[in-house]
Amino acid sequence: MLVSAKEMLNKALEGKYAVGQFNINNLEWTKAILLTAQECNSPVILGVSEGAGKYMCGYKTVVGMVKGMIEELNITVPVALHLDHGTFEGAKACINAGFSSIMFDGSHYPIAENIEKTTALVNTCDILGISLEAEVGSIGGEEDGVVGMGECADPDECKAIADLGVTMLAAGIGNIHGKYPANWPGLSFETLAAVKEKVGNMPLVLHGGTGIPADMIKKAISLGVSKINVNTECQLAFQEATRKYIEEGKDLQGKGFDPRKLLAPGFEAIKATVKEKMELFGSINKA
Ligand code: G3H
Ligand code: ZN
Repeated sequence: MLVSAKEMLNKALEGKYAVGQFNINNLEWTKAILLTAQECNSPVILGVSEGAGKYMCGYKTVVGMVKGMIEELNITVPVALHLDHGTFEGAKACINAGFSSIMFDGSHYPIAENIEKTTALVNTCDILGISLEAEVGSIGGEEDGVVGMGECADPDECKAIADLGVTMLAAGIGNIHGKYPANWPGLSFETLAAVKEKVGNMPLVLHGGTGIPADMIKKAISLGVSKINVNTECQLAFQEATRKYIEEGKDLQGKGFDPRKLLAPGFEAIKATVKEKMELFGSINKA
């Protein structure tokens, strides 16, 4: 079922687990994530960056593909189709195309402008039953052209945005997109606790889920994180499995060059990564 992320995240917050957002790039990615969610009886959020949306021929194509798969693969677990790090224009385009969830990333604007633009989307999303994620502070590193300095969020600014009526809030707490450097000091649980204190029962979102140690993930969930975004880790797993297949010369044997065979090891690697994350986040059997 294609649903808003509101109910699944409120349930996760109450049940002290997190729902994974896994970014999609194409048919194989989408199919791997949906099938794994169904097998694990877990709710799931499919993340689409603006770059990935363009790559997949536009948001309407993405909506058609996801809805078609949900129906034809008999996916009965709750699925949210979510714009990841969207601009204001991107958010409006995804709302029009039929996404069930939106992230408007206004973190690079002065807080007054972030509030103003987020407010405009709160009203539209409310009327249409679409969940809305906002961001305060910033996520370090780069993801699909979105660059952040990684400054920790100001808890008072988090409260100002949360009070607008968004569904979930991403707060920068020292998290980084992509691989974490060896000298990374870890998540700032002090910031997370201070944000939680200010925003109360608002599901919090942890971006940069790739490579965060399990104990930090568990602690973040215990402090109110209900949604964790993972992108790079699926890409690395896909790349490694595909490389192995080619380096072993399997593409040259039999009909190994058939794209359906060539892409199969990467597809299985994404499935294994998603399952591992769902286990770690505690969302298995929570559909
Ligand atoms: O918005 C998506 C993410 O925050 C994913 O981050 O690529 O580091 O896993 P990641
Ligand atoms: Zn992110």
